[in-house]
Amino acid sequence: MMSLVVLTGAGVSAKSGIPTFRGEGGLWRNFKPEELATPGAFRRNPKLVWEWYDWRRQLISKTQPNKAHKLLAQINAVIITQNVDGLHQRAGTEKVIEPHGNIWRVRCTSCGKEYENYDVPLREVPPKCKFCNGLLRPAVVWFGESLPLDALEEAERLAMSCKVFLVVGTLEIVYPARLLPFVAKQHGAKVVEINPESTPISEIADIVIREKAIVGVEKFLQEMLNL
Ligand code: OAD
Repeated sequence: MMSLVVLTGAGVSAKSGIPTFRGEGGLWRNFKPEELATPGAFRRNPKLVWEWYDWRRQLISKTQPNKAHKLLAQINAVIITQNVDGLHQRAGTEKVIEPHGNIWRVRCTSCGKEYENYDVPLREVPPKCKFCNGLLRPAVVWFGESLPLDALEEAERLAMSCKVFLVVGTLEIVYPARLLPFVAKQHGAKVVEINPESTPISEIADIVIREKAIVGVEKFLQEMLNL
């Protein structure tokens, strides 16, 4: 099996019913990121921020991994995902790197402990730490925060050493994850993009599959696996 690394974004979960961030019906169209997904917003109004995350958790809890998640799980690819929904793990992928965190994890702003929390809806908003009763925050990366170094380094190592770097359903505006396909290309990998629309990655991609995630992954598996 060739060495394949997959980078996914919101587009891979769109068919599961989870809104993307930008574009039609996108989360950032209806909400202002600076009012909800920043450390300042959380300091000003943790309850409001948690109400939004509680809403998203409820929405995600009603969804299922779709065929694109499942096909990617079947080929045992390492997945780097910008999504926080946990659907790749639910589809059975063992190795998932999550540089933007995971909406089912919480971190205490007092004692710093991080752990899983699957309460839907949350028992109290904002929720409190089970160890020290401190204020919890979602263990996701907000605007203005840096990405976890260990996840980034691992993602970069993978991009540098793979033969094929597949990008599915991301607009790739967000640094530094958007650099990964460029890193892969520089180190000799073929870059394949699956996206119904053009993105900055399209320009450097060796192969572009202009399809939505499910059809795109099916085509990729049928036609490209002998690259
Ligand atoms: P975006 O909402 O920016 O982009 C979604 C991409 O998916 C677009 O390029 C669409 O064309 C594509 N798309 C839509 N439906 C699709 C489908 N059914 N199949 C395949 N592709 C489809 O989402 P991301 O690129 O994932 O960061 O956003 C990256 C980051 O920006 C997010 O992780 C989040 C956000 O701000 C943080 O919160 C830190």
